[in-house]
Amino acid sequence: MRLIIAGGLKGQIIAAAKIAMSKGAAVTHTESLDQTLAVLRAKGADLLMIDVVQPIAAYVAALEAERIRTPIIACGTSTDARAAVAAIQAGAREYVPLPPDPELIAAVLEAVASDQTSLIWKDPAMERVVQLATQIARSEAPVLVTGESGTGKEVIARHLHQKSGRKDKPFVAVNCAAIPDNLLESELFGHEKGAFTGAIARRIGKFEEANGGTLLLDEVSEMDVRLQAKLLRALQERMIDRVGGTQPVKVDIRIIATSNRNLGDAVRDGLFREDLFYRLNVVHLRLPALRERPGDILALADHFAKKYAELNGLPIRPVAADARKVLLANGWRGNVRELENTIHRAVLLASGPEIGASAVLTPEGEALGPVAGRDTASRAAQTAEAMTRSLVGNTVADVERELILDTLDHCLGNRTHAAKILGISIRTLRNKLSEYSSAGITVAEPGQTRISAA
Ligand SMILES: Nc1ncnc2c1ncn2[C@@H]1O[C@H](COP(=O)(O)OP(=O)(O)OP(=O)(O)O)[C@@H](O)[C@H]1O
Ligand SMILES: [Mg+2]
Repeated sequence: MRLIIAGGLKGQIIAAAKIAMSKGAAVTHTESLDQTLAVLRAKGADLLMIDVVQPIAAYVAALEAERIRTPIIACGTSTDARAAVAAIQAGAREYVPLPPDPELIAAVLEAVASDQTSLIWKDPAMERVVQLATQIARSEAPVLVTGESGTGKEVIARHLHQKSGRKDKPFVAVNCAAIPDNLLESELFGHEKGAFTGAIARRIGKFEEANGGTLLLDEVSEMDVRLQAKLLRALQERMIDRVGGTQPVKVDIRIIATSNRNLGDAVRDGLFREDLFYRLNVVHLRLPALRERPGDILALADHFAKKYAELNGLPIRPVAADARKVLLANGWRGNVRELENTIHRAVLLASGPEIGASAVLTPEGEALGPVAGRDTASRAAQTAEAMTRSLVGNTVADVERELILDTLDHCLGNRTHAAKILGISIRTLRNKLSEYSSAGITVAEPGQTRISAA
């Protein structure tokens, strides 16, 4: 765990730093936003603890501007109550009161470290995957993880890292689909100061940040072909070139790549380099959809019921027999993520000593289960028929545009999700959206719909 503590190192923050170090964190101390940014650019960090007297909003904005996703925790004494509220509003993940309580500091570090590492399974289909993962975890072999959205690809990648000899080194994830092509290269390989407009300082890339550890290339299928060539070279030669750099830099990393498209098909369609595919696909872990491993449903439900009770400060309640029936009968198209969200809601909605079926609902508050599913299906069929009738008279381009913009609204502006639902690549989606924007058509920004943006 790499921790930066930002702020004047006065007595109580020193105590917090000491506690963190005794829990195994590598602590760097910085005194200002500029210094903090310099450390983040030079070597990255897993967590940033900031004294509330610092300008927290400026930190949040600066990290966002540089696409640095290190979580921020504010800390201060009880006399800073107003500052605490402001810090959370400004985007700090949590507020830790000083003087530091060793258990609280330990809990925060633990939460950051293990938030995404617990891997729950019970079904034999999943047992086989976890066994293979554990067997090859200690090797240096690249791993390709595939599976539908929400099946736990990132969870298994973190598991691989935890079980490897690299576990005390960084685990760094990059989502290749979420970053525009022109920025992805510097995101991966870093850049020198002045390499392009906006490159205000040297910044190391994810390859260097992950040095000694594991680099997760999420949705690698979305990387453009030119960059695929550079990635291949980095893997073959264990050297990278920073953008605008003159000297190649040696890196030692283990690569895990994920894709929710069939990479073999992408190779056949000429969208993905065959040589890169073979480099990445040394070991292939295929995560079954949740419906293909029903034995996991209740184990996961119990795990999430406990997790969300703890997170919300509620008593831990068992999942009742009628609720279990509903959970087992559902189709879980959104896989573990959908189950997790469903249980999260159920924990909040349930009244009484158990979590009953009446608390197990869709986000719209409707009942789950096969009967509700049929209703939804017949409603959908009716809607589809009505829609087809209303479409006649429009051009294909008009219909396509409406479909894309509506889907984007539905996904609250999330490009990755919208592209998945539409079955097109994120690049195609981006191109269409910029076409619409330049024609003066409103497009939902991330986190918004067209209506909330207007
Ligand atoms: N086996 C598991 N045990 C515990 N939690 C899990 C498991 N599988 C998935 N989860 C949880 O479900 C959610 C989705 O998992 P994850 O992000 O790993 O999926 P993914 O396959 O990477 O999805 P996407 O393709 O959308 O990126 C996460 O909150 C994760 O913690
Ligand atoms: Mg993922």
